Amino acid sequence: MTHPRKIIIDTDPGQDDAVAILLALASPDELDVLGITAVAGNVPLPLTQKNARIICELAGKPQTKVFAGCDAPIKRKLVTAEHVHGKTGLDGPQMADPVMPLQDQHAVDFIIDTLRHEAPHTVTLCPLGPLTNIAVAFQRAPDIITRVQQIVLMGGAYFEVGNITPAAEFNIYVDPEAAEIVFKSGVPLVVMPLDVTHKALTNRARVEAFRALGTEPGRMVAEWTDFFERFDMAKYGSEGAPLHDPCVIAYLLRPDLFAGRHINVEIETTSDLTLGMTVADWWGVTDRKANALFMGSVDTEGFFTLLTERIGRL
Ligand code: RIB
Ligand code: CA
Repeated sequence: MTHPRKIIIDTDPGQDDAVAILLALASPDELDVLGITAVAGNVPLPLTQKNARIICELAGKPQTKVFAGCDAPIKRKLVTAEHVHGKTGLDGPQMADPVMPLQDQHAVDFIIDTLRHEAPHTVTLCPLGPLTNIAVAFQRAPDIITRVQQIVLMGGAYFEVGNITPAAEFNIYVDPEAAEIVFKSGVPLVVMPLDVTHKALTNRARVEAFRALGTEPGRMVAEWTDFFERFDMAKYGSEGAPLHDPCVIAYLLRPDLFAGRHINVEIETTSDLTLGMTVADWWGVTDRKANALFMGSVDTEGFFTLLTERIGRL
């Protein structure tokens, strides 16, 4: 019996973040969620920290530790995405305010303390939003960088290019300086870019399978994806919503569902035209050192089978 993998989920809920968190909390045999750290992104920090607690209560895990982190990028003005996620960040169903407490400790201090306290290479960081909390922790406590087991993040794009600008994916675009710190840190990276998350698309049958679970979490996931899909369907003409962030947690549970390449990925931080672009050397045309396992494909049926079965456990 192997011990569950210790993870910290860093997040800006967001309906897709919510599904990722539910997937993690539904998998205690494989994942030990040491804490959930909220960051400003899809919506401002007061909402992302509140939404993280709503999601933990929906999962029936009110003892989960939730921390509030950075309320703005390292050096830029916050850009949010209410146009995608709605004003609350969890638009779709009506949600009651959370009762469980927010931890007093700042999320960055929790990340630093946890990495210093836990044995080296035993904690995986799972960023699902802008990388501000992770980068500030690395800046404030460089000694923790070599202690991180792995970073498995949702962000970036190569073939799919941008979803917030023509060149950049939202999580990287919001805080490109933070992304540069993380991508240059030397920590083993697994990246779930739009290239793969745009293949993790809901459709009517998949949404109805969530609803057919007959549970509150199942109903919420169906209503969130019903709301969340309208942006991508209008923009891309896609069949449903891309479940971006659940790809991170699904990788931890079933890495065999994904395939990609170990390549060099660097972040554009100066050009106004391509700010936040992940410049991925997918074709190996440079001699830049590989720093990331950059995913390109997913077994979509296997992904949704896993997701539906696990959400059904809550
Ligand atoms: O570009 C998609 C990413 O931006 C997802 O993490 C979504 O939740 C938003 O944060
Ligand atoms: Ca997110």
